[in-house]
Amino acid sequence: MKTTSPKTWFITGVSSGFGREIAREALRRGDIVAGTLRHAEQLAAFEAEAPGRAIALQMDVTKDAQVRAALDTVVGQTGRIDVVVNNAGYGLLAALEETTDDKLERNLATNLIAPLRIMRTVIPIMRRQQSGHIVNISAIAGFANELGFSVYGAAKAGLEAAADAVTGEVAPFGIKVTTVVPGPVRTDFIGRSLDPVERLPEYTKTVGQFEAFLNKINGRQPGDPTKAAAAIYTATVAVNPPRRLTLGAYAYDKMEKKIAELQSELAAWKDLGLPTDFPA
Ligand SMILES: NC(=O)c1ccc[n+]([C@@H]2O[C@H](COP(=O)([O-])OP(=O)(O)OC[C@H]3O[C@@H](n4cnc5c(N)ncnc54)[C@H](OP(=O)(O)O)[C@@H]3O)[C@@H](O)[C@H]2O)c1
Repeated sequence: MKTTSPKTWFITGVSSGFGREIAREALRRGDIVAGTLRHAEQLAAFEAEAPGRAIALQMDVTKDAQVRAALDTVVGQTGRIDVVVNNAGYGLLAALEETTDDKLERNLATNLIAPLRIMRTVIPIMRRQQSGHIVNISAIAGFANELGFSVYGAAKAGLEAAADAVTGEVAPFGIKVTTVVPGPVRTDFIGRSLDPVERLPEYTKTVGQFEAFLNKINGRQPGDPTKAAAAIYTATVAVNPPRRLTLGAYAYDKMEKKIAELQSELAAWKDLGLPTDFPA
């Protein structure tokens, strides 16, 4: 069975930001969007975006039973899932020493374990269709990290590493995987989706400095979520979609700089690392 039009989307975290804008873009193009929200009072406003085509599902991505029930509902109503967007997530701005077990585990559960579980649950649905596209919203912190984002960056890097493998695993079933890599985008991320911690004075000059930068750009982040959503939509209809889609100049520059650093270090230490194999 090949992809039909309109497509059915499943997007986590459509209450605001990226999730809401990607949902709006897909609805604007005539698709059906099942969007997940955590709070009952948010559901009606989402369905009002496009009555009959915007389906609001109450769900917390860390609750596996809720995720499975939501996906069953979508397949029950539309018969298929064409695009899944693992978007729901939040930051943890803390030096590793400042984190607690609870904060660390909750962040990994939301930003890493949940998207992995969602991918695992939708793959058999898409395999039966012999088509589908999984879009994971990562962050530039997953490739070129910032001080204070050790846990958040680890979650996003883990998601990217998983996607590298999954892409090849599901390619024979006609399923595509794209990792989206944004820099700072004008959403609620800095305002309400950054888990705060008690800052130790020892980290004022390091993590504190990045925190001050974030507070300074809050509300003036260079990334436009509406343009980002349009770019993501375009990637999902491309014949050969990108494995990684880097959004905005901030992320692009960081990505280029990190790649150059990696290449330079690889070359500089080649003579030490390369000869460590057994003789052929
Ligand atoms: N904005 C940026 O600068 C930026 C940069 C790089 C990557 N990202 C990534 O973009 C994604 C979306 O963030 P955003 O910038 O759009 O921020 P946002 O406007 O704050 O949106 C975050 C969304 O995630 C949802 N969410 C958080 N935890 C959840 C959970 N356990 N279960 C279900 N939903 C949950 C939130 O729902 P509630 O309304 O219930 O809280 C909200 O809908 C995240 O994965 C983030 O890491 C953002």
